[in-house]
Amino acid sequence: MPLNIEKQMKAQLSDDILNALKLCSQTADEHDFKIYLIGGIVRDLILKRKSIDIDITVEGDAIKFCHILAQKDCCKIIQVQNDLKTAKAVFNGGVEIDFASTRQEFYPHRGHLPVVVKIGCSLQEDVYRRDFTINALAMSLNKKNYGDVIDYTGGIKDLNNKKIRVLHNNSFNEDPSRILRALKFAARFNFQRDKHTKALQEKYINTQMHDDISWTRIKSELKQCFSLNSAKVYDMFVANENYKLIYGQKPEIKGLEIKTLIDKYNPYHVWLVYLGTILSNKKIIEHFCFTRSEKKIFTDIEYLVNNHLSMMNSNYDVYKFFEKKSTESILVYYLLTQRKEALKYLENLSLIRVELKGDEIKALGIENGREIGRILKEILKKKLNGSIINKNDEIEFVRNKIK
Ligand code: CTP
Repeated sequence: MPLNIEKQMKAQLSDDILNALKLCSQTADEHDFKIYLIGGIVRDLILKRKSIDIDITVEGDAIKFCHILAQKDCCKIIQVQNDLKTAKAVFNGGVEIDFASTRQEFYPHRGHLPVVVKIGCSLQEDVYRRDFTINALAMSLNKKNYGDVIDYTGGIKDLNNKKIRVLHNNSFNEDPSRILRALKFAARFNFQRDKHTKALQEKYINTQMHDDISWTRIKSELKQCFSLNSAKVYDMFVANENYKLIYGQKPEIKGLEIKTLIDKYNPYHVWLVYLGTILSNKKIIEHFCFTRSEKKIFTDIEYLVNNHLSMMNSNYDVYKFFEKKSTESILVYYLLTQRKEALKYLENLSLIRVELKGDEIKALGIENGREIGRILKEILKKKLNGSIINKNDEIEFVRNKIK
């Protein structure tokens, strides 16, 4: 008897989702389609965990199926991708569902994105293109066997044994980002890679050149892993030598140290503080196609590390060194060098500002622009060393100057 998870669905999914799935189910039966919940959502239902994405796979043409649903006013199609024959639709209550046609894929180049060789294949052929057994589970949505789990690869057993297992020996060669996916799932569910999967991963990391991997996928998985802000993920990333994938250096830093700093200083790009301690190869940084603000973090780290001052004599030196640098880069600099000035800047000096504006100094009687600039700098220095505290002190200072 197959495992049936209809009860779990009722317990875990909202009424809006259950209604949307029922509409899909009825339409599939009426029009002779076989449709399944697939991947993460089935895994999460069995694990009794909350799932975010709802993926349905249609044995056949998912776009055609969606059009039938839309004609019956069950949903609105909001996205269609013709080459892969996938579609996204929104149902009552804002429930979004991704529909994919079953497909077989082939990797023409190691590590690159796959090309589709067949659309509308059998479910069994479809699941074998996937990453791990725990993600290759499907659940029938047709009335006859609604809720039955279809397990071609031993995924249920692996879920019970808390194992992450690839489907074939070539899995990491085809898609090395799966190494990071394994890390993500291991941390999220407290699972272990099975022995063979671990050996394949080590072999890939230690024997392959990784220049030609899909950096888009690697970036996306790194972002997901490190955005968890988990000391354990970082420590596992280092212990499993995952940094070799991105030509990173082995850090001598513990995940907990990074997490503690992040929790205290709240940087916006959490994941880049973790990554910044590992990634320094300029050529590889280019591969990531970072956004402008992400790129600035790496430029700042490079600047701070290369212009590392052996002596920072005054608060003003410290202020000038870190001024306009991103919080993320200052944290990475601290982690790499243990220079306490970095934290002094974030905690204290970065908050200090000269309150007087140029115009106000002019109104006090100083006309010359250069002179105003010099005075602003002097006030800043005095504020940084504590001899000037507030705006009144600043005014007093300017008046004394004039005298
Ligand atoms: N998948 C894969 N190889 C990848 C990415 C995805 O085989 N590199 C497959 C897996 O079957 C996965 C499904 O596509 O379950 C959907 O991918 P994704 O949404 O990234 O993963 P989820 O398993 O749903 O994980 P999450 O809970 O993090 O969304």
